[in-house]
Amino acid sequence: MCGIVGYTGSEQATPILMRGLSRLEYRGYDSAGIAVYNGSELVVKKAKGKLSELAGRIEAAPVAGCVGIGHTRWATHGEPSDINSHPHTDGDGAIAIVHNGIIENYQELKEALIARGCVFRSETDTEVVPHLIRTYYTGSMLETLIRVLPMLQGSFALAIASKDDPDTLYCTRKDSPLVLGKTDHGSLIASDIPALLEYTRDVYLLDDFDIARVRPEGISFYDCLGNEKTKEAMHVDWDVKAAEKGGYAHFMLKEIHEEPAAIHNTLAPLIEIGRANKLRFRKDAMPINEEDANAIKNIIISACGTSYHVGMVSRFIFEKLAGIPTQVEIASEFRYRDPIIQDNSLFIVISQSGETADTIAALREAKNCGVKTLAITNVVGSTVAREADYVIYTWAGPEIAVASTKAFVSQQMVAYALAADLAVKRGKMTEDELADYLHEMDQLSAKAQILVDSWEIQAHAANHFRSIRNSFYIGRHLDAISCMEAALKLKEISYVQTEAYPAGELKHGTLSLVEDGTLVCAIATQTDLIDKMISNIKEVKVRGGYVIAFVKESETRIESEVDEVWRIPECPDIFTPILVAIPGQLFGYYMALERGTDIDQPRNLAKSVTVE
Ligand code: G6P
Repeated sequence: MCGIVGYTGSEQATPILMRGLSRLEYRGYDSAGIAVYNGSELVVKKAKGKLSELAGRIEAAPVAGCVGIGHTRWATHGEPSDINSHPHTDGDGAIAIVHNGIIENYQELKEALIARGCVFRSETDTEVVPHLIRTYYTGSMLETLIRVLPMLQGSFALAIASKDDPDTLYCTRKDSPLVLGKTDHGSLIASDIPALLEYTRDVYLLDDFDIARVRPEGISFYDCLGNEKTKEAMHVDWDVKAAEKGGYAHFMLKEIHEEPAAIHNTLAPLIEIGRANKLRFRKDAMPINEEDANAIKNIIISACGTSYHVGMVSRFIFEKLAGIPTQVEIASEFRYRDPIIQDNSLFIVISQSGETADTIAALREAKNCGVKTLAITNVVGSTVAREADYVIYTWAGPEIAVASTKAFVSQQMVAYALAADLAVKRGKMTEDELADYLHEMDQLSAKAQILVDSWEIQAHAANHFRSIRNSFYIGRHLDAISCMEAALKLKEISYVQTEAYPAGELKHGTLSLVEDGTLVCAIATQTDLIDKMISNIKEVKVRGGYVIAFVKESETRIESEVDEVWRIPECPDIFTPILVAIPGQLFGYYMALERGTDIDQPRNLAKSVTVE
């Protein structure tokens, strides 16, 4: 939801800002802009459309200067247009700002500012900020921000440039991410770590309402009252290559190919070989101690999008292995339905970015109720990682494509590990059973590799089905959840209307949509439910549906009932959601490729949804 960057130093700012924006474009890509101080004024360049539009304008009329801010937008208030693009300035262009978030009380502020003579040009909520800063400007930006920030309701990450103090940028945040870094030629601001990796792997994180004064020679941090704070840099392991396409046509394809490594890298820090060559958890790898594990009465999982699907799978696993009643909540719904959070609940949030606004809000709701919270996230130092009582990281590396792939499988690995750990601590799983279970988990990386390497199956099918208008995924039990994730992949990037249905539910209405040639993907990996699936497949076949079945290697009965089978390597039923996800992702990818959509940046979407 919008990416922001800032640079002040001895190098030319424009190329640095543009490179930073290109690494953040996954956050929003309907318009972009920069403001650079050219020695006498803040020159603003902005353009509707992808970053390449802005690049074209800059090439036609370059802007020289060593300090500036930039923005890539995912529109919320005001349609994508040149005027609504950021940066926004005050009336005489002395202050320029870029913003990620939503100023919820902007209407009221705007009316008050108009009454004081301010003239607004855009329809955005953001434009109130430069006008407010100008109106209350004391001659010191720090002092002014201390006065102005309490007037803003909602969420914001802001970077501010001003003519008055042209070498210095200011930035601040509330509920929207912001990171800072230093390099030998200057200082940098960004919404996310990948934009800084080219310059540094030591990043500074801001807390809500912190203000940073960013100068070429260094960064100073202040709290909301203006007291200076010291901050330690956080070292990140990701390197710049991890945020590049590395020869793949798209980030999504690269990230699918990274799944075997993501699965391995997520599990490896959690396990070790113990006595009698048996796998076990490393000491202190799993954060909940035995006493707390036994005190848990129920688990509530909250997340959005693909992470929510991980939660749905995890519900079955926590209940089956650890015997803990578990509910799963879409984070954007959770706090608006007066949820009942009982004492001794464990509240788990799952978030690749760790910055999804709704997930953070759900986490805070749980914390207010005083229950223990645990975050599963891919980003070290992200908001959910910092705010939850416990955190377990996935080690997938940066995920750039909007459609989540490697994050899904690695989040799922953590959930499987956590469920087993709780099961052992609660006396529901023996050490020997754990060793077998971890052994199976340890095999998943190699099995994922087999699926990734057989991508031609899905590429071929996509070529055949490229023109379809709709399709279905059906499955039962865990497969019904795998269907939700596979359907999401297909629709979000290829724009084929796809519905996921529990196979037994199809006949209660949706079956009426199946006609001659309708594509129905039937995921059938749950051994005890194969017969039931065969019945549901027959219901589809007699109505003319074309059925592709996703089955395990050893499955023999379904083949004669369907038009095609896609096989996954053998594994216990419980782990199939990880493996079955891969052909689903590959099919989505190749369908999108055939249909010529913008795979890494699908229309209307953004990767990091930091607004409600
Ligand atoms: C966006 C992304 C999805 C992602 C969801 C939750 O909608 O496009 O791919 O699953 O946000 O993101 P999170 O970072 O919280 O996992």
